[in-house]
This record gives sequence, C-alpha cells and structure tokens, in this order.
Amino acid sequence: MGDLHKYKLPIIWIVIALSLGLACLFFTRTETPITPIAVLPEKPTFSQHIAPILLKNCLPCHRKNGAAPFSLESFSAVKKRAKTIARVTLARYMPPWPADPLYSHFIGEKVLSQIQIDMIQRWYKTGANEGPKIQFAYVPPLISRSTIRKPDLVVQFDSIALHEGDQDRFYIMKAHVQIPQDRVVSALEFVPGVYGLVHHVNGHLLLYRDGNKKKPKYANVTIDVSQPNQTYRFKALELEQDDGSLPERIHSAFNYLPGVEGIEYPNGIGNFTLSKNFAVVLNDIHYGPSDQEAIDHSVLNIFFSKNKPKRKTSEIMLGTNGRSKITPPLVISPNQISTHFTRYTIDADISVLTINPHLHQLGKSFLAFAIKPNGDTIPLIRINRWNFNWQYFYTFKKMTKIPAGSEIVAIAVFDNTTSNKSNPNRPPIEVRERFDTGGASMRASDEMFQCILTYTPYQTNDETISLEKNTP
Ligand code: HEC
Repeated sequence: MGDLHKYKLPIIWIVIALSLGLACLFFTRTETPITPIAVLPEKPTFSQHIAPILLKNCLPCHRKNGAAPFSLESFSAVKKRAKTIARVTLARYMPPWPADPLYSHFIGEKVLSQIQIDMIQRWYKTGANEGPKIQFAYVPPLISRSTIRKPDLVVQFDSIALHEGDQDRFYIMKAHVQIPQDRVVSALEFVPGVYGLVHHVNGHLLLYRDGNKKKPKYANVTIDVSQPNQTYRFKALELEQDDGSLPERIHSAFNYLPGVEGIEYPNGIGNFTLSKNFAVVLNDIHYGPSDQEAIDHSVLNIFFSKNKPKRKTSEIMLGTNGRSKITPPLVISPNQISTHFTRYTIDADISVLTINPHLHQLGKSFLAFAIKPNGDTIPLIRINRWNFNWQYFYTFKKMTKIPAGSEIVAIAVFDNTTSNKSNPNRPPIEVRERFDTGGASMRASDEMFQCILTYTPYQTNDETISLEKNTP
C-alpha cells in the first residue's frame, strides 16, 4: 500500500503538470501575436507612424546641440540609422530610462510602449519607408534654456575651454551675486553649456545675511582640481564672511546629471529665502572625456516665488558618505559579482519627493524599498540593468509617505568581471570606496554606493499632492 502511494502520486502530478504545460503552450501560441498584428499597419511609414514616436521620445536629446551625440531631425538622418534605432529600442536601451516602470513610476518617465517598439520593428523590416513628405524639426520647450519657465535670474559661471582628447576634468567654481533684495526661491535649475560633456554637478549655496560680507575681489573664481597642488588657491574663493567665519550654507541645493530637468514643486514645497548677497559654489563640476573642441558656458537658472517658504526639504543619504554603513564593506574583488546592502530606520513620518541611486562603472543593478513597522513593503526604485551614464534624480509623481519606524533598504549588485562592458579595468582589478580629505572619491574609477532621498516632514493628505508640472 505504502509503495503504491509512493509511485501513484508522482504520476498524477506528472500528468497534471504536463497538461498544464500543454495548456500554457496552447494559450500563449494563440495569444501573443494577435495584439500587435491587429493594430499595426502592414507597412508603417516614417511620416505617419514613426515621426510622432521620435518627436516625443527621442528628439528632446537627439537634436542639434542636444545631450545625444547625433541629431535625428530629418528623415534621411533617421533612415541612415534605422537598423540601430530598431536594435536599441527593442533592447529598451533608448530612450534611456533605467528605472523599471513595473516597480515604480516617476515624473518624465521615458519608456516606449510595446506597440511603439513593434511599430519601429515593422517599419524597419518593411523597408523603412518615408511616406508623405513632412516638416520634421524639433522645437525644444526651452525658454532661455529652461524647461520650467523663463528664469528670474541667471547666474553665469566662468567659461571652460574643452579640447578634443581631454580626459576627465574636475573644477570648483564660484559665482558671487548681489541682487536688490532677499527673494523667496521656488526652483533652481542647472543648465550645461555643452550637454554632451558635462557629466555631473553638485551645487551649494552660501547665504550672506546682515551685511556681513563685503564684495569679494573676484565675483567668479574657477579652480582646476584635476591639476595637482591647487589647494593654495582655495583662499581665492573668498567664501568666508568678513569676520572669518563661514556663512549659512545650503548643501546640495541643486544637482545635475545628463537628462536631468529642473522641477518646481507645488504648494511652496521646498521654497527657501535667498539672501540678497549670496554665492553659488559648484563643488564640483565634472567634464567627461572630450571628443570635440568646445567652450562650455553653463548657467544656474533661479526662479522666484511669491509664496512664503512653508515646507523645507531635506536629504537622507544612505551608503557612501551617508548615515548608514554598507554591508559587506565596498571592496569588490576582481572577477567577482558582489551584492552589498545598506539600511536606515527613520524616526518620523516623511513624504519622499525624489530618489537618486548612485553607483559607478561596476554597477549591475539597484533596488530600494522601505519596510513599514507592520511588515508591508513600499517599493521605491528598481534598476535591473545599471547604466553609469543615466543616473537621474527620480521625482515621484506623488509624494510617497514612509511612516516612522520604517526601515529604508538599498541593495546594489556590482559586476567586476570582463562581461561588464563598462568595466574600466582589463583584466579586472580590486575596486573599492576611497576616501580623501574632502570625503569619498568621486572618480569614476573608484566605486560608490549611495541612495539619496529628498523629503519633507509628512502632513495629512500629502499622498494626494501631485508633483507634476502645471499643478495648482
Ligand atoms: C535623455 C536623452 C536621450 C533620449 C531621450 C534618447 N537618447 Fe538616444 N542617445 C543619447 C545619448 C547621450 C547617446 C550616446 C550614449 C549612449 O549610447 O548611451 C545615445 C545613443 C543613441 C544611439 C546609438 C546607440 C549605439 O549603440 O550606437 C541610438 C541609435 C539612439 N540613441 C536612438 C535613440 C532613439 C530611437 C530614441 C527615442 C526612442 C532615443 N535615442 C532617445 C541620449 C538620448
């Protein structure tokens, strides 16, 4: 009896499994191809079907002087690259949007729908035809180089000459500004001069209040920190107040990475008072290796508001330089794929506005979520294929509440093998976090693991406030 049972059960399970498997095959066979065939035209044309997709999803970068290395602003330019366009859209490599839209949603999400991807495939496979002639040029929604609106104040930095063949260059730049009166500021937007070459910017504000700072000798100062022995020049920045003390500082008041656009929050969230005597300090601005001769004129656009500053935003930084340690420590052996995590418990209810995952070239994937005290999970961000070039400050569509006592967890996977195409070392060598006197090394050849959240203390109904543009 016992023996019979032993043999009978597995056979029943095999039969069930087989029939389930067959049923799956049957259903998927009939279902998958139907949807696209039903809606796709037999022979899509550029002007009727492809141009609208490119206009919205590609031309913001693939235009003259855009962030992308070539323009797609004519049929011939698109036709010439039809094969690559079909490949990169199918692989979801373009448009660049590393965050997984199946996990969480953000403002400005750049993701093609399956139908759009299938449309491009079919257009390419049926001969990449033009169709009726159309005017196809991109009019960027830029007003004085802003995507928000016309700025109230534009701060200029020194111009930097970039030469073909230049390697990574890092500068500290200061611009000292005086305006007639204190103003409430609702948004700051860094706009690079040469989009393709500015790799990142960390910007800080120094506020001189109460007439404690006379006009510095130089309004604009630039220090090339990629050159050795520049520290003696820091004095030339003249950041101190007249009595030698340091003024009030807004750390990381703005940031820039390729693809980042300025955002003005609704309801006075994040507004602050800018003193009439202030300095903007880029510490630092990083230019990537240059493939051209160019002069960069980057600016900071400042937007004023009539609303009083009501709700201050702050930052929680996990990992490198942050509040929580990385486990195991960030030392990545050659030829290894290694997983590291960092976690931090918050002690008050917060409303999260943005999240910025940050790794360097060995990054492979990234996941961040919060675990509430009751055990529920709040998804924050998932990046299945890390891309060093696309490190956005992702802004949630609506503020995300994380209740007091929740633990924020970030998990990063690093790939230090040769199958990681971005691995700068062939053969791979040990790569780790490094700390200089000023904090962690930001050099792309050292590693970092950070998860930065901006938040404001929670208020009732915050979850319903949309952060998208044009909301009252
Ligand atoms: C946010 C800016 C941005 C958007 C939007 C964007 N691209 Fe790109 N694209 C780039 C940059 C920068 C590069 C060069 C660096 C790289 O390959 O990652 C690039 C590279 C490419 C390449 C060359 C890839 C290769 O392997 O040689 C193709 C083709 C391309 N993009 C097509 C598109 C298409 C099609 C769209 C829209 C569906 C699009 N891009 C949207 C910025 C953008």
